[in-house]
Amino acid sequence: MVYITRRETFAAAHRLFKDGLSNEENLKLFGKCSNPNWHGHNYILEVVVAGEVNPATGFVLDLKELKEIIHKHVISKVDHKNLNIDTDFMIGLNPTSENIVIAIWKQLEDKIPAGKLYSIKLYETENNYFEYRGE
Ligand code: NI
Repeated sequence: MVYITRRETFAAAHRLFKDGLSNEENLKLFGKCSNPNWHGHNYILEVVVAGEVNPATGFVLDLKELKEIIHKHVISKVDHKNLNIDTDFMIGLNPTSENIVIAIWKQLEDKIPAGKLYSIKLYETENNYFEYRGE
């Protein structure tokens, strides 16, 4: 089994909040990420696919193909977007990194043509990252 990784970056705005709470209560719960007038992050996304090497190509999966799949189903929907209101697969979700990483997994899980989706990692800052492996 070989694990191949494609790294992508995107910039997106969001706001973390719970309906029904005041701005002050949301600030207490979510900190600066609850700013009512939005703010942004430069996210780094790592998509790992695990699979056997195809003897005909020497690839698990052509990374160019993986890049195109990630762009079509994720990056085009999040880059320079507002995750609360622009991104169809985030509608109704509070856009914490935990919820984003699970939503990205669901976007990609059945789109991988060879091997299997193994892990999605999302870096919100240099020091914080979030990983999901489908369970
Ligand atoms: Ni934030």
